[in-house]
Amino acid sequence: MGIKKVSKTLKPLKGSVVIPPDKSISHRAVMLASLAKGKSIIQNFSSGADCRSTIEVFKMLGTDIEFLKANTLEINGGKLTPSFTPYSCGNSGTTMRLVSGILAGQNYDSVLTGDESLSKRPMERIIQPLTLMGALIDSVDGHAPLTIRGKKLAGIDYISPLSSAQVKSCVLFAGLNASGVTTVEEPSLSRDHTERMLKYLGANIETEGKRVTVRASELEAKDIEIVGDISSAAFFITAGLIVKGSDFVIKDVGINPTRTGILDIVKRMGGNLEVFNRRVVSGEDCADIRVRYTENLQGCLIGGEDIPRLIDELPVIAVLASQAEGETVVTDASDLRNKESDRISSLVKELKKIGVDIDETPDGFIIRGKRILSGGAELETYHDHRLAMSFYVAGLICREEILINGFEWTNISFPEFERLFAELSL
Ligand code: S3P
Repeated sequence: MGIKKVSKTLKPLKGSVVIPPDKSISHRAVMLASLAKGKSIIQNFSSGADCRSTIEVFKMLGTDIEFLKANTLEINGGKLTPSFTPYSCGNSGTTMRLVSGILAGQNYDSVLTGDESLSKRPMERIIQPLTLMGALIDSVDGHAPLTIRGKKLAGIDYISPLSSAQVKSCVLFAGLNASGVTTVEEPSLSRDHTERMLKYLGANIETEGKRVTVRASELEAKDIEIVGDISSAAFFITAGLIVKGSDFVIKDVGINPTRTGILDIVKRMGGNLEVFNRRVVSGEDCADIRVRYTENLQGCLIGGEDIPRLIDELPVIAVLASQAEGETVVTDASDLRNKESDRISSLVKELKKIGVDIDETPDGFIIRGKRILSGGAELETYHDHRLAMSFYVAGLICREEILINGFEWTNISFPEFERLFAELSL
C-alpha cells in the first residue's frame, strides 16, 4: 500500500486546471453506445479504473470497443452476446448496478462479481425492483456475486424508497428492453445523466418532476463528448477556498443542476466562487469556475434535497466546514454508510486525528469550525478514493505533515489528481 506524505502548501494555488471527464457520464456512454446499433465516438472519456471496469464488461459481452487516443473511444454496438465467465465489476458500484438492469432482460444467464469493498455493498436495492419486473437474481444475502437468470421483463411503476441514480438507472435500463411502460419515481431528484443521455440518443423517455418513464426503445448511435466531473472539481473548489491567497480557474466543469449541490453549499457558506462561460455539451451543462480564498466562511445546514445533489462531495465538504465559523450540520445522509466505505464513521474517525472538531450522527455529522488543523498523523483511506483525495486537501492546510495510507485508491476515479494539484502550485 502506498503511503503519501502531504505537507502544508506554502504558496497560494494559482493558474488554471482542466477537470477530467465525468465518471458517471463515462459509464453511461459505454453502456448506451454498446446498446445502440452502429458506431459511436466517445470523446473525453474518464481514465479512472471504475470506467475501465465498465469497458471490460462490455468487451466481454462482445461489443467492439477501441481506444483511438488516450481518452477517445470508438464503440460499435447493437448486439450483446453472453460470456461464460463472470463479469468483474472491480470496485465500481455503478458498473454492477447499471449492468444488472441491462443483463436481467437478456435471454441468457450472467454472473457479476466485485472486489472486497463492492462485495460488501447492498444490492437488494436493485434486486427488489428488477424482481418486481420478473427478473430472477441470486445473491449472497443481498450482496455480490449476483447470478442473473435472464428473461423477458415487464414494465413497472416503481416508487423508489431511495433517491439513488444507480437504482433509477438500473430500472430504466431494464425498461428499455421490457414489455409495456416502466416508470421510476424517487423521493428527491438524483443525478439525471441517464435520462439526458437516453433523450440525446433518441429513446422513448419522458420526465415529469421526480418521475421518469421509458418504453422499449432502439437507441441511435451518436457521438458523445463528456464534460468534466464536478465531483473531481470539488477537491479544487475546497482547496481554493481554504488555502490562503489562492485564486484560480477550474475549466470544463459539468454543472448539471442535479450535481451542483456543492456550489449551493459554497454559496451558503459565503465562499468566493464565480461560474462563467456556460455552455451545453452533448446534452449536459458545462462551465468554468473561478475560485478564490475566502477568509470568513460560515457553517451551514446541509440535508433533505441537498443530499443526492452532493452525495459524493460530503467528505471534502467536511474539510471545507472545518474552516467555516460555527456549526455545519449534515443530516439525511445515512446512505453515505453504503459507499466505497462507511463514509460517516471512517471520515469522522480520521478527521479527528488531525484536529477537526467533528462528531458522528446516525445520518451525517456535525463539525464546529474554524479550527487550525494540527496534522501530524497517519490517516487510513479504507480503500476509498474520495476519502484519499479529501485527506490530501486537508493536508494542504495542516500545521504538520500528514501521511495518507492507500493513496493509490485515487486511481479509481481521478488518476490525474496529484499532477493537476502540482500544476496549481508551480
Ligand atoms: C452514481 C450515483 C451515486 C454516486 C455514485 C455514482 C451514478 O450513487 O454516489 O458515485 O453514477 O449513478 P447512488 O445513486 O447510489 O446514490
